[in-house]
Amino acid sequence: MIVFDDIHKSFNNSPVLRGVSFRVAKASVHFVMGMSGAGKSVTIKSVIGLIRPDRGRILVDGREVTGLDEADLVEVRAQCQYIFQHATLFDHLTVLENVAMPVAKRMKVSTAIAQARARAVLESVHADDILERFPPELGKGSQKRVAIARALALEPRVMLYDEPTTGLDPVAARRIDALIRETSHRHGLTSMVVSHDLTSVRGTADHVSFLHEGRIRYDGSADGLFATSDEVLATFMHPRG
Ligand SMILES: Nc1ncnc2c1ncn2[C@@H]1O[C@H](COP(=O)(O)OP(=O)(O)OP(=O)(O)O)[C@@H](O)[C@H]1O
Ligand SMILES: [Mg+2]
Repeated sequence: MIVFDDIHKSFNNSPVLRGVSFRVAKASVHFVMGMSGAGKSVTIKSVIGLIRPDRGRILVDGREVTGLDEADLVEVRAQCQYIFQHATLFDHLTVLENVAMPVAKRMKVSTAIAQARARAVLESVHADDILERFPPELGKGSQKRVAIARALALEPRVMLYDEPTTGLDPVAARRIDALIRETSHRHGLTSMVVSHDLTSVRGTADHVSFLHEGRIRYDGSADGLFATSDEVLATFMHPRG
């Protein structure tokens, strides 16, 4: 479980988060939504210390992660894998090598063992047909799939996704949604997903927290969010041209 307890964060005296509190249940797929600039990325980055909150606490499985030094954050970042919006793969390594390299390095195993593990994980994300390809030859959806495999291969407890479907075509986006659900429920992984994608949230989220003006405006099911009578939320959920 991840607990956000009264998180505050300002940049240049301008408050972005003004007392954000919510809980992410273990093994759930938890969406964080909100308008552009609402502080979604700031919230998710705070879990692994890429952003340091000014006030408040974040606990991951009971351990406080706010205020840890860089050495202790290395461990937190191993347990909580962050998937950047743009895939950050090495273009000059094959898909298999991209996934195997961090396994060999972090888990201190031989290349052969790392590659066997990488192969198994790539198979589980349905990417076993592209093992010998190079990232620039792949579509964005496949690149994202490989980035997810690379993170999963490190056996995290938490996956943090920042806009995983932005920039993908609808077919690729739905495949990523399915993958997020599958991995979360199959491996008991806790997944936090920052997203604007209304189709994603409807089909994928177990729970949604909606950020507005620095606080949580809604915390509940996706269905409840779509049915909301709150004007701010309704404008977001049912945009009119
Ligand atoms: N490192 C930083 N330094 C200064 N300001 C920052 C920093 N990171 C975020 N901000 C500001 O905090 C606010 C919230 O940013 P954030 O990236 O969390 O928004 P978001 O909800 O993820 O938006 P989007 O949907 O556009 O990605 C923005 O006004 C942004 O400019
Ligand atoms: Mg963002």
